[in-house]
Amino acid sequence: MKICVLPGDGIGPEIMAQAIRVLNALGLKLEMEEALLGGCAVDATGTPYPEATQKLAREADALLLGAVGGPQWDSLPREQRPERGLLGIRKDLGLFANLRPAILYPELANASSLKPEIVSGLDILIVRELTGDIYFGQPRGIEVREVEGTQQRVGWNTMIYAEYEIRRILKVAFEAAQKRGKKLCSVDKMNVLECTQLWRDIAIEVSRDYPDVELSHMLVDNAAMQLVRAPKQFDVMVTGNMFGDILSDEASMLTGSIGMLPSASLDANNKGMYEPSHGSAPDIAGKDLANPLATILSAAMMLRYTFNHEEAAQRVEAAVRKVLAQGFRTGDIYEPGTQKVGTRAMGDAVLAAL
Ligand code: NAD
Ligand code: IPM
Ligand code: MN
Repeated sequence: MKICVLPGDGIGPEIMAQAIRVLNALGLKLEMEEALLGGCAVDATGTPYPEATQKLAREADALLLGAVGGPQWDSLPREQRPERGLLGIRKDLGLFANLRPAILYPELANASSLKPEIVSGLDILIVRELTGDIYFGQPRGIEVREVEGTQQRVGWNTMIYAEYEIRRILKVAFEAAQKRGKKLCSVDKMNVLECTQLWRDIAIEVSRDYPDVELSHMLVDNAAMQLVRAPKQFDVMVTGNMFGDILSDEASMLTGSIGMLPSASLDANNKGMYEPSHGSAPDIAGKDLANPLATILSAAMMLRYTFNHEEAAQRVEAAVRKVLAQGFRTGDIYEPGTQKVGTRAMGDAVLAAL
């Protein structure tokens, strides 16, 4: 079981250190090798996804990522930005299916920004397409053009999906729904965007192969509203890259914090990169404040999806539930009456629970 470890930037190394301690404590034969991705790679090599990382990434069975990015790299040319490294590795490895489960642990009902009765028992899965859409569409750019008689800057991107890209992510979503509550909500903006009209048409076509799953459609603006009005109406949601990015951050808050939301980015053969849904949190980096649980839960997803080790995955998830029940909280999920701990102490607690 070869794992390529990519700590990245900001809080990345801090949260990754805790996930690695947890993995090492499981007594499995895991081979881990570290590589550079993001701003740290730019600083060391001039590029966010260096060749040495490409090689390790392609050879590994799975990858574990902290987070990339930070203000110090924000003025670099776009190809050198840390985020380009992340998009590059996703595309390079064909990681088109991003699974983002938003589960509310009962102990965190009060940490959610919504009333407990609205979120208690919440268990939704957002399936986000990850290698297409406006993120990768060509043409794109910024240039000076003549517009209405004056020279001005124009910025543009292209929202584009090919049929095969929509079809394969819908299959993933239908199959996930089959194993859960058998309800799939496909989110689009077909009232305005042709690209997403195609998305809806294909969703309907693919649904014929999954008669046991109830397919519904929702426009993305309504979906954003419904997620905070009555989130438990959803079982599995499937959507494109951009809408999925936004809706998954929104859904994370239902679970108490973005620091709780893990994710799996899978290819067609269950090779995957496992990454918390949050970013490098520059505002709290280096201060032992970050919540490592999203990364630890991402490692659990790795054990489940790539290594087929359901028992180890459940051990890690049970340990996380236990530390929450014991009252350990990082600042993002803290409430009076619980015990505030730092990143490392949260790792200690998970290890003890294991
Ligand atoms: P962010 O997710 O990094 O932070 C948003 C807020 O959530 C901040 O207040 C932060 O402190 C908090 N937060 C995030 N993770 C946390 C954790 N584990 N524990 C406690 N609090 C946490 O989003 P941002 O501020 O918009 O972006 C910062 C940088 O991260 C940018 O450069 C962005 O491009 C990058 N980013 C990277 C990834 C990734 O690597 N997967 C994802 C999102 C953003
Ligand atoms: C995420 C992040 C990335 C995305 C950025 C950093 C490229 O926000 O993983 O959600 O938009 O996919
Ligand atoms: Mn995001």
